[in-house]
Amino acid sequence: MKKEQYLEVTTTHKQSSTNTADCEEEEEDIQWSDDETTTTVTAPEFPEFNSKVQEAINFLGGNVFPKLNWSAPRDANWIALNNSLQCQNLRDIFLLFKSSDFIAHDFTQPFLQCSDDSPDPEISYELVLRKWSELIPGGEFRCFVKENKLIGISQRDYTQYYQHIYKQKDDICSSILDFFEEHVQYKFLDEDFVLDVYRDSWGKVWVIDLNPFGAVTDSLLYTWEELTSGHNLMTDETEGDPAQQDVPAFRHTTSEVTVQPSPCLSYRIPRDFVDLSTGEDAYKLIDFLKLQKSQQEESDEDA
Ligand SMILES: Nc1ncnc2c1ncn2[C@@H]1O[C@H](COP(=O)(O)OP(=O)(O)OP(=O)(O)O)[C@@H](O)[C@H]1O
Ligand SMILES: [Mg+2]
Repeated sequence: MKKEQYLEVTTTHKQSSTNTADCEEEEEDIQWSDDETTTTVTAPEFPEFNSKVQEAINFLGGNVFPKLNWSAPRDANWIALNNSLQCQNLRDIFLLFKSSDFIAHDFTQPFLQCSDDSPDPEISYELVLRKWSELIPGGEFRCFVKENKLIGISQRDYTQYYQHIYKQKDDICSSILDFFEEHVQYKFLDEDFVLDVYRDSWGKVWVIDLNPFGAVTDSLLYTWEELTSGHNLMTDETEGDPAQQDVPAFRHTTSEVTVQPSPCLSYRIPRDFVDLSTGEDAYKLIDFLKLQKSQQEESDEDA
């Protein structure tokens, strides 16, 4: 794979060696007050790690996309001030990681659904920083590779209808297939895997990520049953046409009627809470204040 076509990890920082020291530091930072009912906890600081990360961020141009070994905190962008995963410093990264169920999953059950009997390997956790890149969601595609053959491509942001995908589907499909055959096929350790790619507005294809071929990876517009069995992958048009046999199936959202809410919405805080904190819904705020007032009056009466 050519280096310039790989939009990938530029900096990796191994954390494992600092873990023990960091824990000790954290314990020392708890300051017990004389008053038994209150405890003051000072947030731990990691000056050395912080400056290493900052150096890496600066090297990557000042804006980065953070990941842990497997996952990005995609479910936590709502908590960031910029509503995005773009980070400028370690504080931004910590906030996203602490708010993300996907990151918690990497820490607590990374081998969920692994079926072999071997004991779980020792994990060395790594913070992965990628140079930030403004990606257009309509340019992202997920490619399903079985026995080193590209069997299916799906629009990644399947909740939206993109007219350009509908219009250029043949071009998109063939540019991804060419890229796969030239740069990826037979070069990955496994013969079954899922490859995420980005096709930019000039038609150039970039690798975004590689994922396991199985239920831990979202099958998007396919079902895992279809992908593992190979049934139903072809449309009525392509089925039985020998010229289409080596062309992967291509699925995209076909009409605006099927547009769905973002899959990560369920990870956010309740809508009411957001409306109250921003004052966006004035009626909700008035109801909330009235409720507070009546509760206050009730407790005054009780006293
Ligand atoms: N360098 C980058 N700059 C900006 N956004 C990025 C960058 N890399 C990835 N993204 C965005 O973040 C999304 C998730 O990235 P990625 O696929 O690496 O995370 P993941 O946790 O492995 O996701 P999944 O669980 O779906 O496999 C991508 O679809 C893309 O929209
Ligand atoms: Mg992934």
